[in-house]
Amino acid sequence: MIISAPTDFRETARRRLPPFLFHYADGGAYSEYTLNRNVADLAEVALKQRVLKNVEGLSLETELFGRRMAMPVALAPVGLTGMYARRGEVQAARAATKKGIPFTLSTVSVCPIEEVQSKVSTPIWFQLYVLRDRGFMKQALERAAAAGITTLVFTVDMPTPGARYRDAHSGMSGRHGPMRRVLQAMMHPRWAWDVGIHGKPHDLGNVSHYLGKPTGLADYIGWLAKNFDASIGWKDLEWIRDTWKGSIVIKGILDPDDARDAVRFGADGIVVSNHGGRQLDGVLSSVRALPAIVDAVKGELKILADSGIRSGLDVVRMIALGADAVLIGRAFLYALATAGEEGVTTLLDLFEKEMRVAMTLTGVKSLSELDRSCLVSDAKPLPLPASP
Ligand code: GLV
Repeated sequence: MIISAPTDFRETARRRLPPFLFHYADGGAYSEYTLNRNVADLAEVALKQRVLKNVEGLSLETELFGRRMAMPVALAPVGLTGMYARRGEVQAARAATKKGIPFTLSTVSVCPIEEVQSKVSTPIWFQLYVLRDRGFMKQALERAAAAGITTLVFTVDMPTPGARYRDAHSGMSGRHGPMRRVLQAMMHPRWAWDVGIHGKPHDLGNVSHYLGKPTGLADYIGWLAKNFDASIGWKDLEWIRDTWKGSIVIKGILDPDDARDAVRFGADGIVVSNHGGRQLDGVLSSVRALPAIVDAVKGELKILADSGIRSGLDVVRMIALGADAVLIGRAFLYALATAGEEGVTTLLDLFEKEMRVAMTLTGVKSLSELDRSCLVSDAKPLPLPASP
């Protein structure tokens, strides 16, 4: 298949990956209503076409947490990225760094912090969950700081994992999971050779380092699930704010009151997110939650958004609605699974092209001009795209 659109990578990834990995990335919680709404609601945001506005010198550049970015996009933290391509976190971080945008390393990455950071020239971002094992959290923060990382993305919408029924169906979890995963790997020899054999160790790099022993998929499901902390409140995060010297971004905000709490807490940024529709099914899509949050806290901290962004056009829509930048997860993961670093580079180039076209035809030259005046406010909703 010839890749010509950012969304083409989904199909190529589906063919390349053992089903348990494809569906783990592609799926969401319960009936996947929110997962599908994230995409469908974004498609309904109608841009206003403007002409003869002389947009020579158009720039996508922005600055976030003291760092210049070539475009307002960062790669989201995705657990197990190293199962989607050989040493996948390193390959994705390289593509992002070359493009001039941040890569965010998940707590539960395959490659540990030091391996990824040593392969790129600018600081990556690091994502942390709230976990019962505060010793792990403390050590992870120390290691991130020692590696030169200055931006911490704190995921707060996972006090408990959402139920992902697709995982049970695909063999990612559930009865006979281990045997089904081996069989699926055997049916996908290209993946088995490249990642299954040559991508080892398939550790959770950061966790193994802490526990002092090898870990694997069983620990992803076991150690992580045991460690989610439902007793957490804002007060419990104060030690992090007081010890972490860099920027703190709170990820998983969907309500203006929580956004105001994040401001009171002293966060430098938030990510408006429903975790890609992977946590509480039935909640608002990110794009519908965004405007009220922008009205509540714009200018007091940076507002990022994720969930449902599959194209450069979607980025433009989120920025026009008031986001300062976006995170992309599935979109880059499919590209990585298809063609490694080169795939992610191609994807990011496609995103950039789409953003340039969209800004040219809405008649704006810079992100600061891209606001709600670029949207058609009384547009009729588009018909919904067919669900995947
Ligand atoms: C982990 O954060 C996941 O969404 O699976």
